[in-house]
Amino acid sequence: MTVDTAAIKPSQAVGTLDTPSLVVDLDRLERNIAGWAEYARGAGVKLRPHGKTHKCVEIAARQMAAGAVGLSLAKLGEAELMAQAGITDIFLAYEIVGGPKLARLLRLAREIRLRVGVDSLEVAEPLARAAAGAGCTVDVMLEVDTGLGRCGVAPGEPLLALARGVGRLPGLRVAGIFTYRGYRPDPDAAGREEGEIMVAAADRLRGAGIRVDDVSVGSTPTGRAAARVRGITEIRPGTYVFNDATQLHWGVARPEECALTVLTRVISRPAPDVAVVDAGSKVLTAETGPFSSRGPSHGMLRDYPDCQIDRLWEEHGRVQLTADARRLRVGDLVHVLPAHVCPTVNLAERLVLARNGRVEHVWAVAARARVQ
Ligand SMILES: Cc1ncc(COP(=O)(O)O)c(C=O)c1O
Repeated sequence: MTVDTAAIKPSQAVGTLDTPSLVVDLDRLERNIAGWAEYARGAGVKLRPHGKTHKCVEIAARQMAAGAVGLSLAKLGEAELMAQAGITDIFLAYEIVGGPKLARLLRLAREIRLRVGVDSLEVAEPLARAAAGAGCTVDVMLEVDTGLGRCGVAPGEPLLALARGVGRLPGLRVAGIFTYRGYRPDPDAAGREEGEIMVAAADRLRGAGIRVDDVSVGSTPTGRAAARVRGITEIRPGTYVFNDATQLHWGVARPEECALTVLTRVISRPAPDVAVVDAGSKVLTAETGPFSSRGPSHGMLRDYPDCQIDRLWEEHGRVQLTADARRLRVGDLVHVLPAHVCPTVNLAERLVLARNGRVEHVWAVAARARVQ
């Protein structure tokens, strides 16, 4: 995707970039992509990375080249863009609801191999009517709630009732089941349990004569352990390409696996223990996490990890400095690991890809803000 890169020169040193910029360490990105692809191969499951993390066609292409079977996405707009860029196998792990969306969904289903999430007959019936009316069949994945409390039905009787109900609708084919469990204190135990709940749920459906091709699970924290559960066919980690302060905090990623930082600059030093940087909620989002011993923080300073970004305004981030960070002066650069990298990337126009501190590429976040 083309992006205006006039201000950024190839081989430019990262330290001379304008701020704020999202800077991705290419070596780390490539290692993350290759590492998870190899892990999935070893575990005998398909890897279908969630593209909402990067929203970038160049990164999607690298995931595919490393062995991903396709992408997971949430929104139709993201899927339309990725399909145009050549991704021909997409799972919309999301309930697509609303009249204006159905024609777009059917158009896309004719162009690529598309699957879509369903967790009720209210979601399934309009989709079935539209598909049957257009003379096509749409593959759906039934969403199971394994404890997150978002979308999905309980894995026992409610899932069986949903599968039977959807199975009776013309225009739809049940292709499998999926879940997203979110973050829990012990990611490995949570992943194993997630896998076991889902395999038991799939077996129960099969026992009732319902075909279940795919059992799709996982996230960056739970995907590894869930992939090892026999009967799981697919994992959908997203955040793993970049990682962030949350993954670091939960012990899911090591510092050398954090590929993306927000390069910011100190613009004010109003007190000996306070710095203000040029990234606020329009860059870092308003998310926080327990990254500093001083209290909730809107991200982590890569080189001074116990500093607390205690307050954001739209364009300002206030940092409570630890003793070693008091050396920071107005004009100094600060790398911030975002609290949650996915919405942070969604706010950016571009990613600057660097190796050994030198710019190699500038890639557009082409699907940014594609929320419809
Ligand atoms: C349905 C679904 N699948 C997969 C993922 C990927 O999870 P993560 O970004 O933690 O790897 C998400 C993340 O929000 C999700 O909502």
